[in-house]
Amino acid sequence: MELLEQVRTAAEWIRKEDARPFDLGIILGTGLGALADEIGAARIIPYGEIPHFPESTVKFHAGRLVLGELEGKMVMAMQGRFHGYEGYPLRQVTLPVRVMHALGIRRLILTNAAGGIQPQLVPGSIALIRDHINLMGANPLIGPYDPALGVRFPDMSEPYSAALRRLARQAAAELKIELHETTFGAVMGPAFETEAEIRMLQILGIDTVGMSVVPEVLVARQLEMELLAVTAVTDQSLPGAMNSVSHEQVNHVAAELGPRMRALLRAIIRAL
Ligand code: HPA
Repeated sequence: MELLEQVRTAAEWIRKEDARPFDLGIILGTGLGALADEIGAARIIPYGEIPHFPESTVKFHAGRLVLGELEGKMVMAMQGRFHGYEGYPLRQVTLPVRVMHALGIRRLILTNAAGGIQPQLVPGSIALIRDHINLMGANPLIGPYDPALGVRFPDMSEPYSAALRRLARQAAAELKIELHETTFGAVMGPAFETEAEIRMLQILGIDTVGMSVVPEVLVARQLEMELLAVTAVTDQSLPGAMNSVSHEQVNHVAAELGPRMRALLRAIIRAL
């Protein structure tokens, strides 16, 4: 199968570049890439060099893999991710998650920027994803099946590990960082939401909305990986209080949040 061939080729290529065994995968979203700069003994590989990896086409996504040590763990960090709105099929968007799994990684921390659509989720808030609703109208698991892809019908009763969320809450409490828990709505984008759409998302019980994470989560769950997702709330829109949003603002607020986000992520990784 072509997808499995691509995964194997990319994984073997990376293993030749860096044979160290990995403990953890990290995906760094818009404006959150700076954590990768804190990785020690780093081997940095631009996505363009890795066979079958798409290229990052989005500003504020560095587009490289950073392999090395962080808080005593060997990590594979994606500094920048791929999105459906870039035109990549979700099977391609999520290829790196399969490659991480092929390299022995069973735990994944995802980060993203998202809009807050509940009053308490003001820009600058940090939130765990407790659950999600997939509103992308697409799923990376659709297509021909081979058992080597993972399970055909992934269990989604607890996609975001309750144990890892507990650990994250403890880390946040020790650092005196307020940490929300949210239901995340994944949309395809790239347009931000209308007021009517925000109203609809609220009715559905959604707290934060963004254009990533869920495709990666679906593939990681197919592969039965353990997941934690941490969101930087970069903007807020509420019915009757719509704010204009720009990609620049999203990046700016995410970067401003950076030090708190990095401290939290490092404390979580330390405690793993
Ligand atoms: N909507 C969708 N995606 C986003 C937003 C938003 O408000 N902010 C950051 N990513």
